[in-house]
Amino acid sequence: MGKLITLGEHIVQNQGKFPMATGELTALLSGIKLAGKVVNSEINKAGLVDDIIGQQGNTNIQGEEQQKLDVYANRIFKEALGARAVICGLASEEEDDFVAYESSVCQNGNYVILIDPLDGSSNIDVNVSIGTIFCVYQRKSPQGSPAVLEDFLQKGREIVAAGYIVYGSSTMIVMSTGQGVHGYTFDPSIGVFFLSHENLRFPEQGKIYSVNEGNFPFFDEKIKQYLRYCKEHDPASNRPYTGRYIGSLVSDFHRNLIKGGIYLYPSTSLKPDGKLRLLYECNPMAYLAEQAGGVAITGNEHILDIQPTELHQRCPLIIGSKSMVTELQGFLEA
Ligand code: AHG
Ligand code: MN
Ligand code: MN
Repeated sequence: MGKLITLGEHIVQNQGKFPMATGELTALLSGIKLAGKVVNSEINKAGLVDDIIGQQGNTNIQGEEQQKLDVYANRIFKEALGARAVICGLASEEEDDFVAYESSVCQNGNYVILIDPLDGSSNIDVNVSIGTIFCVYQRKSPQGSPAVLEDFLQKGREIVAAGYIVYGSSTMIVMSTGQGVHGYTFDPSIGVFFLSHENLRFPEQGKIYSVNEGNFPFFDEKIKQYLRYCKEHDPASNRPYTGRYIGSLVSDFHRNLIKGGIYLYPSTSLKPDGKLRLLYECNPMAYLAEQAGGVAITGNEHILDIQPTELHQRCPLIIGSKSMVTELQGFLEA
């Protein structure tokens, strides 16, 4: 157990130059915490009760099969955030278009949220860690009106808060409001997230590489060269590196943040833009990475500098410890 201080208390105490009023921040956090607890409780019942595991029978706008928990988590976050007077709109992996909340209370809210309600869907049925990813922006449209597309298509550099929940061996919220990255572990016996990991930083040196190597034939030759390099025997440079790939971005990122490592989902000849979504997967993780002393790039530009043009656009992602991302960049630039 870390210090006996809760998520809400710690973030509000460390608000610094954060633009959100304390009351707004508290409202946002209470929506995220509540939805996280509800989803967590449901995930813990997977396998015990009907209607949790398995496919919903629909595909989302990206043509991917929706799992029942994808749909459930989306509804819970949408409702929890829409019930508080701070968020005027939500964009989600599981919604074709953005949601502009209709109530005048919400329309007075000054922020929008972008969310991957359930990350790692393919791991739901097999009892492997999954997550939720989110980021928050100040709206561009005037307060008191419905949210518009422009509110959501902002560069990652404009993020005011981002985080993820990892539903793992314990459940944690890891988040940043621009004052470093902090982790809060859920105590299920009393239903509270306590500060457990203050000021998380990527270790300077890492030796874990995380990639779906089944895509190897479709990678660019430079990525192939890097992956061969990861596996070479060279004790002086600590190689071979250790391969670890869970298939839940949240869990792979979380492990690499704690132990030091690099995660890559590069473009492939089959998926030239990669697989991950810029707005609610890559941007929040890139923001957290930079706040934790790491780096996040597509290959030739920083993720946070990309001007989005579409809600569900994809982009390649290379993210993790600075030394390892820089090393991979050396291969890309050669
Ligand atoms: P989601 O479940 O939200 O669709 O995200 C899945 C993502 C990400 O979490 C993971 O790292 C990646 O897809 C895994 O993709 P592959 O199965 O192609 O390796
Ligand atoms: Mn995802
Ligand atoms: Mn998802």
